[in-house]
Amino acid sequence: MTEIDRNRLQNLLESEEKRFHQYHPKSFQLYQRARKCLQGGVPMLWMIRWAGTFPIFVNKGKGAHFTDVDGNKYIDFCLGDTGAMTGHAPDATIQAIVDQVNKGITYMLPIEDVIWVGEELQKRFGLPYWQFTLTATDANRFAIRMAREITQRKYILVYNYCYHGSVDETFITLNPEGPGPRRGNLGPPVNPIETTKVIEFNDIKSLEAALSPGDVACVLAEPAMTNIGIIHPDPGYHDALRQLTKETGTVLIIDETHTICTGPGGYTAAYGLQPDMLTLGKPLAGGVPAAIYGFTREINDRFHARLNLEDSDVGGIGGTLAGNALSIAAMKATLEHVLIESSYKKAIDLSNRFAKGVESIIAEFSLPWIVKRLGCRSEYWFRATPPRNGGEAAVAVDSELDRYMHLFSLNRGILMTPFHNMALISPDTTQEDVDYHTQVFREAIVSFLG
Ligand SMILES: Cc1ncc(COP(=O)(O)O)c(C=O)c1O
Repeated sequence: MTEIDRNRLQNLLESEEKRFHQYHPKSFQLYQRARKCLQGGVPMLWMIRWAGTFPIFVNKGKGAHFTDVDGNKYIDFCLGDTGAMTGHAPDATIQAIVDQVNKGITYMLPIEDVIWVGEELQKRFGLPYWQFTLTATDANRFAIRMAREITQRKYILVYNYCYHGSVDETFITLNPEGPGPRRGNLGPPVNPIETTKVIEFNDIKSLEAALSPGDVACVLAEPAMTNIGIIHPDPGYHDALRQLTKETGTVLIIDETHTICTGPGGYTAAYGLQPDMLTLGKPLAGGVPAAIYGFTREINDRFHARLNLEDSDVGGIGGTLAGNALSIAAMKATLEHVLIESSYKKAIDLSNRFAKGVESIIAEFSLPWIVKRLGCRSEYWFRATPPRNGGEAAVAVDSELDRYMHLFSLNRGILMTPFHNMALISPDTTQEDVDYHTQVFREAIVSFLG
């Protein structure tokens, strides 16, 4: 089968939307109220993009599951889009949060636990110096600023269809008429071609050409792309990236925010990468806002040589609540007890099972689809072969089919990660959860193949 009957799919989508309405009367009521006080009826605009005609309001969650205000139960394969990769409300993190809350939440002074966290990050990622922010977006913004400051260069370099948070410089794509603002880039301060060079992932020649003038401060790279589907680096790509950045004096920043799904030290530790800087956020503190950026001794020394103590609070790096006591306490407990080797092993084994289940259905119906995996992250994609870069992956986006698969799953108690068909597995996900997904995935295929 290669052709999908689009009329049939549209009719099915409409009937799934009706079913969604039927099962979520309270969420609908709350949404009507929310629309009168919140932009788009949601606290953060992305939440209007979920499949379904309004967002589900959550009542409570624990581990790999949550319940909505209508009493519907869900297996959560979205896990707050990695923010809750630890599973919801992990016991050790909750205990640390409760203890710390009773002692104060933020002082703009360090607590002793932060040293344990810094030492732990050294061990995991191999970089000696660390700073804290509240979001991975900020970690990337500050890493870029440091790179620009020490190199005194104008450009950064990113990959086509990358995502690194709401960092202005990164919303650039290779458009038919050449590099330019990515579709949907809202209110950009300047055209990103003034700040950024963009190339395809896995293209060593373009990388060499972009870096050779010596005007790029940093490459900001996910070690494997994850935001336009999972795209693995070609063998040898990371060696070339490291060598070319070194030769041209370009700072290499590896963003591990999603690839932390690979293992306790992210992709960097698993594959022996040697970045100059590393950024990471989302699940670090079990869902409490917390993010980090780390760097080499050389970067540290070069930066400090240019830092004027008197101006350190107005230099565009930092934040009042960054490094707050609550985030640090939650991060310590999460790193010590939750994001550990044994949790990863369990989650990665189940992720394998998830991928095998979906692959078996794809094979049964001879669909031209593939499943891609990285650590505890699996994803099906509507093309027959793995894309090598963002441009190839973007061509295969099928928003209608995507929406249908999401809504079909949601209506049967499964929440997938939105905007692509990704399942993140937590240490609390069970074999039954995964097998139930395989069953529902099959039912979805049968429904539109007829
Ligand atoms: C690779 C990567 N970096 C950074 C971010 C930004 O994270 P946050 O929105 O928590 O700032 C994201 C968000 O999806 C991401 O995927």
